[in-house]
Amino acid sequence: MGDLTSERSNPSGSASVLVASNRGPVSFGTADDGTLTLRRGGGGLVSGLSAIDDPDAVWVCAALSDADRRAAREAPDGRLDRAGHEVGGQAVRMLDIDPETFARAYNGIANSTLWFVHHLLWNTPTAPAFDAGFRTEWQAYTAYNTAFAEALAAEAAPGAAVLVQDYHLSLVPALLRAARPDLRIGHFSHTPWAPPEYLRLLPDDIAEAVLTGVLGADRAGFLTRRWALAFADCCERFLGAEVHREALTVTYAGRTTALGVHGLGADADFLRERAHRPDVDERLATLRAAVGDRRTVVRVDRTELSKNIVRGFLAYRHLLRTRPEWRDRVVHIAFAYPSRTDLAEYRAYTDQVRSLAAEIVAEFGTPDWQPLILHVDDDFPRSLAAYRMADVALVNPIRDGMNLVAKEVPVVSDRGCALVLSREAGAHAELGEDALSVNPYDIVATADALHAGLTMAAEERTDRTKRLAAAATALPPQQWFLDQLNALRPGG
Ligand code: F6P
Repeated sequence: MGDLTSERSNPSGSASVLVASNRGPVSFGTADDGTLTLRRGGGGLVSGLSAIDDPDAVWVCAALSDADRRAAREAPDGRLDRAGHEVGGQAVRMLDIDPETFARAYNGIANSTLWFVHHLLWNTPTAPAFDAGFRTEWQAYTAYNTAFAEALAAEAAPGAAVLVQDYHLSLVPALLRAARPDLRIGHFSHTPWAPPEYLRLLPDDIAEAVLTGVLGADRAGFLTRRWALAFADCCERFLGAEVHREALTVTYAGRTTALGVHGLGADADFLRERAHRPDVDERLATLRAAVGDRRTVVRVDRTELSKNIVRGFLAYRHLLRTRPEWRDRVVHIAFAYPSRTDLAEYRAYTDQVRSLAAEIVAEFGTPDWQPLILHVDDDFPRSLAAYRMADVALVNPIRDGMNLVAKEVPVVSDRGCALVLSREAGAHAELGEDALSVNPYDIVATADALHAGLTMAAEERTDRTKRLAAAATALPPQQWFLDQLNALRPGG
């Protein structure tokens, strides 16, 4: 990797707006004849970025697979747009990071360390254990962050705005500022932020590097005020930074970083249109045939430790055990699509989800009634079909930055649905009043909330769903993105 500071004297790029994220807007595969195939991704960032009408915008992302690395290598400076790929509205620079470095940074640090610390996921009698291997992974994470900072420094025009995303890139703001003090830098956390008592599980120098890395930004954005304040608490406790909780600022080493709160909302126009296409109708008919006229409890998640799928199933089992009147009258539809399968914890968790689902079906199922339908694969139109037919949506994460499923279901629900929502999800800040709130660790209370949702009067359900949908769509992705960009402008 090159010398970051050499970019300082020669800011040669022409991009006035830049986004950096680990996962980019496109990914590649290899066809049978050996040619590269391109797939466009979705999500809040992709639709957010479509708001800017700027042909000079550049999205910097990592190559995640061998096919991605090949595409990045074959493109000049990794610029996929210059290699003739149809990457969407903006230019894309994909970084060809050596696979071992990438795996250590992504699996070892981002997903096994920082994700765990922010979501409070460790089983502390045995984990974490910060050994010599951890230090090797940290070096890789630093190198991977440096590669991003170098690419951004090379692409950015003087005074450009750079929006750095998430815990994968927590060191980038400080690295980039050192190379290009002329830039206006934002960092956005899509996760919760750990409270000080949990962040202190990290080795002291690592906690400090993460905090000072983010503080390299002019603005650090969060999904809720709760996560912004947790970050401020950590800065105060570990760095001795000066914190203003009303103004939401953190001053450290002579610089002030503003904290921003931007509660990303659901994209109503997209969802409503997409949820009524023929492929969704088709899947709705299949699901309806399986469920009959029974009620439904629906959940859709990545198979992700923080999503709390196992306790959700335990709550459903408790409901069926203690309120037999629901037997043969309800079906739990659970779509848990695979995630981070390189990590042993995630594979073990997926096995646990599958076996508990099988136990529930064995305990209660009859020839005419399958009490739980589990699919562990990704099918977006099928998820939308489940959203449409949900009587109750179950969203019970241990801790979650926002949780967009909680916001999407009320928007596309056909007949209105009751939302059982964890008080530890960021979405709870906006939806809590009209949801049935639960402590995600309390299985009995979650079962009670499922019962309350299933028995909610139709009129109340409709009214609540309307209010939930309004709150859920208050800040659509494009506005979410523009707000952050505007706030970064001088005087913003
Ligand atoms: O919540 C943080 C986040 O980066 C999301 O933006 C994204 O949905 C999720 O994690 C996916 O993670 P990965 O890229 O590891 O599949």
